[in-house]
Amino acid sequence: MDEQAALHRSYWLETAPAGEPGPPPEDGLTVDVAVVGGGIAGLSTAWELAREGHRVAVLEAGRLAGGVSGHTTAKLTAQHGLVYEKLRRTRGPEAAGLYARSQYEAVRHAGEIAAELGVECEWEEATAFTFTQEEGRVEELRAEAEAAREAGLPAAFTTETDLPFPVAGAVRVTGQAQFHPVKYLRALAEDIRRRGGTLHENTRVTGLTEGEPCVLTTEAGTEVRAREVVVATHYPVFDRALLFTRLTPRRELVITAPIEAEAAPRGMYLTPDGNTRSVRTAPYTDGERLLVITGEHFTPGSGVDVEERFARLTEWAGRTFGDLRVTHRWATQDNDSTDTVPLVGPLHQGSRHAYVATGFGGWGLSGGVMAGRLLADLIDGRTPAWSGLYDPRRLASVAREGGEFLKNQAKVARHFVGDRLTSMTGPGVEEIAPGDGAIVQVGGKRTAVYRDETGVLHALSARCTHLGCLVAFNRAERAWECPCHGSRFGTDGEVVQGPAVRPLERREL
Ligand SMILES: Cc1cc2nc3c(=O)[nH]c(=O)nc-3n(C[C@H](O)[C@H](O)[C@H](O)COP(=O)(O)OP(=O)(O)OC[C@H]3O[C@@H](n4cnc5c(N)ncnc54)[C@H](O)[C@@H]3O)c2cc1C
Ligand code: FES
Repeated sequence: MDEQAALHRSYWLETAPAGEPGPPPEDGLTVDVAVVGGGIAGLSTAWELAREGHRVAVLEAGRLAGGVSGHTTAKLTAQHGLVYEKLRRTRGPEAAGLYARSQYEAVRHAGEIAAELGVECEWEEATAFTFTQEEGRVEELRAEAEAAREAGLPAAFTTETDLPFPVAGAVRVTGQAQFHPVKYLRALAEDIRRRGGTLHENTRVTGLTEGEPCVLTTEAGTEVRAREVVVATHYPVFDRALLFTRLTPRRELVITAPIEAEAAPRGMYLTPDGNTRSVRTAPYTDGERLLVITGEHFTPGSGVDVEERFARLTEWAGRTFGDLRVTHRWATQDNDSTDTVPLVGPLHQGSRHAYVATGFGGWGLSGGVMAGRLLADLIDGRTPAWSGLYDPRRLASVAREGGEFLKNQAKVARHFVGDRLTSMTGPGVEEIAPGDGAIVQVGGKRTAVYRDETGVLHALSARCTHLGCLVAFNRAERAWECPCHGSRFGTDGEVVQGPAVRPLERREL
């Protein structure tokens, strides 16, 4: 690992600095639509609605685009790994076709928006490839190419790529794109403001009462009233439909490194081999492009050695592309839905004015743009052909999700009940090294203890404030993570990522 690399800082966020944060909302602010969450799903929805003349307010816990959307690989493609063969098999060819059309149109739509707003967001058309180096997987890729083509995408099977190694087979989809996600989202935000919308940053929403109007409560105690509410907080923070039983968080690592322009691959690549690898490049300096490489997924809070995973990814990058100087490295996570399709639509069975967008399964850039259009349509009384495909209420039947739902629940039950029954055999407080953290028993209670670099101990309740699973320390990123639904907390206990909305309680040692 290069010692000079910017640790845990996203290249995208660093190269599109945020200005002054939007102010908190005034108590009693009343709007047509309040969007909770300022990532690509939330900002796309707010933008579509603002363009239709709605008065919108975006309420963002941190900075706009500072969540997963600011930490992504930033490919905009309707090729989503091996999704089409699975959809054709599980939901039928018509559903696969609707998925392809909705995602393909989203890619095109983002390009039109970028052009309309004149956004300098490094937009580049590119061909997307899903490849394998394993002979044993070639048939799987052939079937995917056929299913993607049948679904309407410009897809074909090939063995030709411009990667610096041979592949056994690949699915190629032409006419896709890559971009700088934060520059794009900042421009959307600016345009929302220009159209009379308001953007409120550092504003965590902690309560939602559905009604006419709906009332949102913020951490600061202010209330915002809205005819319609969109929950676009990545993992839904309000969840009467218990969607958390249908979503599994998956954390993944990203590194960036310059490469000579002539040696840079032109396409966007993904392989399911090993622990997945995703590759693209972005404009960098004269004569160089920036490799953006992703892989090594794991369940947050599962106790994997994240430092070692970064080392593995860096080693793979060096072995593949030659001696590299890593400039940035960071991690982020997305949620997989039990049936692979995102959940975009009414928040629960009885919902009349609350909507959700989540479960993008690693493809929430085209998915977020698609969600923005779909939610704006639903709010305006239109029902696009694919609204049923994405409707979160489809998951009322466990049968459709099969084993995934049960697997998900078994894992959560293991942490929720199992962790309580297991006796504590962890280290004592005195064994925690500076920069490290561990769960220790203090006064009969499991306590999350972190020792900072100066030796000072910081103690917190070890029970996640979402539903009470036991958190675990991620040493590489200095965060407490919950294995059940992926909530993350800083060493001071503050929420870094939901579904939790309340910090871990402080404890005395
Ligand atoms: C490593 C990795 C690489 C990826 N690469 C790609 C790719 O190449 N192409 C692709 O299509 N997809 C990719 N994805 C997926 C994609 O980045 C995500 O699906 C997408 O960014 C999710 O957008 P979002 O708006 O739902 O979430 P976010 O961008 O996380 O936005 C949610 C926002 O809600 C805010 N929030 C949370 N709780 C509250 C609250 N209580 N009150 C107010 N605000 C709140 C958060 O602060 C956050 O800003 C990748 C994912 C990973 C993990
Ligand atoms: S995230 Fe659900 S219990 Fe922690």
